[in-house]
Amino acid sequence: LSQETQDILSAHEWLTKLYHHLLRFTKDGKEGYSYLKNRGVNDEAIDEFQLGFAPNVKNFTAEFLHKKGYHQQLLVKAGLITQQDDNQVSDRFRGRVIFPIRNHLGKTVAFGGRALGDQKPKYMNSPESELFHKGKILYNFDLAKKHIRKKNAAILFEGQMDIIAAYQAGIKNVIATLGTALTEYQAKLLNRYVDTVVICYDGDRAGLDAAYKAAVLLRDVGCEVKIAHLQHNMDPDNFIEKYGGEKFENEVIKASDTFISFYMRYLMKDYNMNNEGDRLHYIEEVLKQLAMIDSSIEREYYLKELSNEYNISMDTLSNEISGYREKFG
Ligand code: GTP
Ligand code: MN
Ligand code: MN
Ligand code: MN
Ligand code: MN
Repeated sequence: LSQETQDILSAHEWLTKLYHHLLRFTKDGKEGYSYLKNRGVNDEAIDEFQLGFAPNVKNFTAEFLHKKGYHQQLLVKAGLITQQDDNQVSDRFRGRVIFPIRNHLGKTVAFGGRALGDQKPKYMNSPESELFHKGKILYNFDLAKKHIRKKNAAILFEGQMDIIAAYQAGIKNVIATLGTALTEYQAKLLNRYVDTVVICYDGDRAGLDAAYKAAVLLRDVGCEVKIAHLQHNMDPDNFIEKYGGEKFENEVIKASDTFISFYMRYLMKDYNMNNEGDRLHYIEEVLKQLAMIDSSIEREYYLKELSNEYNISMDTLSNEISGYREKFG
């Protein structure tokens, strides 16, 4: 590592400790601490994830690191402070709860900061840098790795609070993309460690679309993928806070869908299932997906489901799917 990179790492280490200390033990961090308490985060999780608070002071971070001997330009480059056109600098993270973002070695390489109220943006992340590529990092991978290996499964969430809620409830094989779409790089990385990935994104429209895209990527790199189903207004963190970890395991994770079952549900959004033409189109699209399944037992299983659901004979469906299988080779 270059001297500069080492310095950026050590600056992140100082700040992780400083922000955490402020949140945990000082009046200046009280707001952040109360915020987390109100959301049900306990001290153990606060310590484990080194959660912190950055005070709403213009040059708090800049001055602290200046006293430690860091050059201003380095901190600008690291994205910790921002520089305006008039060369004035100010802290990037102000009045926010801080989530250190660690790399696979457990070193903080970036921060995420959450607003305490409804301010926009809700979350703010460090900019991309030599050390931090959003599309390459999986939040919590360092802590989750051994649990992922042990269970041969990983649960994939959207955000930091989902991870913390699950972890606190004893579900530790959990990782997250930080709100962005899963990348092929991340999918391949996961595939090196596990067979099964359970995608557990938010129950809203955005979460559903993102889950579909992630599922295709993971399937294509060779993972067995399952997709959990949450009610529209729920995300993993508020589900766990409301109903607890046990119910989450039993009724969300264990009940997650296979790719095809998920796809059958997901695809319906594009069709008016009360209209016969639409319904037939829908069935054709599902058959095209089913045609790609190699196991005849599995294919048969879903064909039966379609047959029952839409009152079409197995013969008709089998003929139809044979056509598609020939086409796809
Ligand atoms: P909470 O409201 O704190 O529970 O957050 P959430 O995780 O439920 O938020 P949401 O589902 O909206 O977003 C999922 C993840 O996307 C978050 O954990 C963040 O990492 C990221 N994210 C959310 N909002 C923003 C934003 O405004 N800007 C950026 N850069 N990232 C965001
Ligand atoms: Mn979301
Ligand atoms: Mn949301
Ligand atoms: Mn969410
Ligand atoms: Mn949430």
